[in-house]
Amino acid sequence: MSGTCIIGLQWGDEAKGKLVDLLTKQVDVVVRYQGGANAGHTVVVGDQVYKLHHIPSGIINENVLNIVAAGVVIHPATILKEIQSLVDRGFRLEDRLILSDRAHVVMPWHIIEDQLWNSAISGEKNIGTTLRGIGPCYRDKVGRSYAVRLGDLVRPNFAERIREIAAAKLPLLESMAQGISVELNADAMVAEFTAYAEQLRPYIADTTRMLLDIVEQDKKLLFEGAQGSLLDIDHGTFPFVTSSNSSGVGVSAGSGVAFKWIDKMIGVAKSYSTRVGGGPFPTELDNEIGEKIRQKGKEFGTTTGRPRRCGWFDAVAVRYTRRLGGIDKLALMMLDVLSGHPELKICVAYELDGKRIDYFPGDADELKRAIPIYETLPGWHEEITTAREITDLPANAIRYLLRIEELVGCPIEFISVGPDRAQTITSVSLTDCVSTPVGS
Ligand code: IMP
Repeated sequence: MSGTCIIGLQWGDEAKGKLVDLLTKQVDVVVRYQGGANAGHTVVVGDQVYKLHHIPSGIINENVLNIVAAGVVIHPATILKEIQSLVDRGFRLEDRLILSDRAHVVMPWHIIEDQLWNSAISGEKNIGTTLRGIGPCYRDKVGRSYAVRLGDLVRPNFAERIREIAAAKLPLLESMAQGISVELNADAMVAEFTAYAEQLRPYIADTTRMLLDIVEQDKKLLFEGAQGSLLDIDHGTFPFVTSSNSSGVGVSAGSGVAFKWIDKMIGVAKSYSTRVGGGPFPTELDNEIGEKIRQKGKEFGTTTGRPRRCGWFDAVAVRYTRRLGGIDKLALMMLDVLSGHPELKICVAYELDGKRIDYFPGDADELKRAIPIYETLPGWHEEITTAREITDLPANAIRYLLRIEELVGCPIEFISVGPDRAQTITSVSLTDCVSTPVGS
């Protein structure tokens, strides 16, 4: 078998879904292995726009098997909506979508808990979660006693288990709610989840065993990461992170497929930076340039609709996540969004407490104090959405890309210049086609 993995190198929303969709033509199986309905992957094919939260973007290619593996947390109502919207558009999903019986279920109490925490903590300490119950669900997974896995939904004692957990959760939530009434109606939940179980039953299987069989066959696998490496629970900008290993290190844990089977890691980054929710963001542009990028890049969350914070490309951060993920090749997305700026800046180092540093601080407070040191490059005015070859790009765009390659320490293989599949330059080799010296 051969395995390729696609990893976001920033704070999520790097347009990974588009790349997965592009690469599915060459693979047999696409695997999603962490995160949940906090993710929003948009795939544009002609005039069709697909918004997916759990289901791998490979579903749009009829010949591909799509696996939602053990490390994902599933919100049944949301995944059923995704399934329905694909079925309504004529997709055949039987035998093409498999959900792990080990994946954990986001239950109503998880969403209530996420909301309660979010409203209890205000100001700079607020993580600004997507309110999809992700953290509380992973917390119960690690805590074990109150966890519900997808396989549990289709087991005979499920109703009893729901009642037992709901009875234990209610006083906990009430104590957090401080007077606000919390409703957990066990009968209603049993009825609701029994209906979900019946609809999901055909898709549930032991994906770990299935994947262990697949890796011993002559198959091509693509692993689709959700969120971005800087949101990784262990290696990201903690505590302003998500609750799973969203960097390259999460692939094996979430899927059950050992690293030795993965031969190519593709890191996806935007040509600038964005972040949704709270937390330090050294290159943030809280000004008209940031607003211009937000409007041109339509930088509003797929899942929550929140405006994304926008900023210059941070090469220190992406060099760090490139190393963390063992990235072989870069995909640089949304280059078209940068057309129309007289100059562009790239963060090449930080100043921390008066000293220049070239590493990404592991502590959120240090990162908050880090002042970006920029290199300025000339911008370009031409619109580049019709570029299909590297030679269609303005010289200054190529300079910008070359400098990113150099600073991040990894060759760029894909460049995206618009949301459609066709708006992509593939098999890029920047050094071959340019003799122009890099600007400073
Ligand atoms: P949670 O994953 O909902 O707990 O949110 C934790 C942090 O991760 C928040 O700052 C979210 O905005 C951010 N986050 C979670 N999922 C995504 C995503 O798919 N794209 C970008 N940010 C995300």
